[in-house]
Amino acid sequence: MPAGPGALYFIRPELSQEFGDEARQRGVRTHEIAPGIFSAGQDIPLYWVLDYWPQTERLAFTSIGDAAKKLRALGRRWAYAGGASFRRGQLIAEALKAKKQKQQEFSPTAVHPPCAAFTLSHENELVYSLAPLKGAFAGGKMIFAEDKKGPPSRAYLKLWEAATLSGVYPQAGEAVLDLGATPGGWSYVAATLGAQVTMIDRSPPDAGLLKKFPRLRFIAGDGLKPPRAELEHAVVILSDMACEPAKLLPAVQSWITLPHVRAMICTLKFHGLSDKRVIAAFAAIAGAKIYHLWHNGHELTWVWQRL
Ligand SMILES: C[S@@+](CC[C@H](N)C(=O)[O-])C[C@H]1O[C@@H](n2cnc3c(N)ncnc32)[C@H](O)[C@@H]1O
Repeated sequence: MPAGPGALYFIRPELSQEFGDEARQRGVRTHEIAPGIFSAGQDIPLYWVLDYWPQTERLAFTSIGDAAKKLRALGRRWAYAGGASFRRGQLIAEALKAKKQKQQEFSPTAVHPPCAAFTLSHENELVYSLAPLKGAFAGGKMIFAEDKKGPPSRAYLKLWEAATLSGVYPQAGEAVLDLGATPGGWSYVAATLGAQVTMIDRSPPDAGLLKKFPRLRFIAGDGLKPPRAELEHAVVILSDMACEPAKLLPAVQSWITLPHVRAMICTLKFHGLSDKRVIAAFAAIAGAKIYHLWHNGHELTWVWQRL
């Protein structure tokens, strides 16, 4: 393991090729400290990871009580991400009253204050970060109590997760433009939050959904070129469109210039190995964050808020 501060990356085994490619292109040399957990001597964010911990420190300890005491001196709120010597880590987490990784109820009013996180590298050594990307959801796992009746697709879980992590929620009464909306899982989420949603897709959405929510409206068309009137009215733009990120990029760059738009949440979907230059261009937009969500497939989620 590299000496001194650096980063930890929690990867998804199915996407290890993306992670390896991204690390290589960014010049990040990594070392696996536990299955799926990699450390690096530099602090460079990589996006094909379930969680990214910057500014990690190593901490030697002699006992569970000693580890808990040392961590408590560093911060009040802790999460445990699993890893090597799992049971020992769990005992430290219990001694620390660390946040348990349990099923979440989706709640737009829930507050998720900053939280530090740790994992064990050996029996008597742990690695911690005071600012892990996913906060209390250390390691990146986020399991919700599912809504099995309302949404017409499971894609709603991605929007729940992106909103929970970023704090970007469509608000009651806001005009939301949902691009590539069919069958309507994301629109269902926005509508249940009280937003006025315009759904755009080439194919019609779930008919039952439109009947159930009068605040949903559907327009058939190309989500990359929404009607001007809809764009000028939109406050939040959502896109889970199955389209090339390279084509979505100029579109979001132009939508940012629309003064009413306060936030966007877009899935970046890739076929084959992703183009890291396109990902870097999305990441470079001021106010943007990129997550690989627990509920993402071969996708990243780009969240933008006006600063
Ligand atoms: C993964 S689905 C979206 C699922 C949806 N977010 C939900 O929650 O149910 C992707 C959608 O993108 C639509 N799509 C792909 N390219 C499009 C385009 N250029 N314009 C409009 N819709 C598009 C497809 O028709 C498909 O319905």
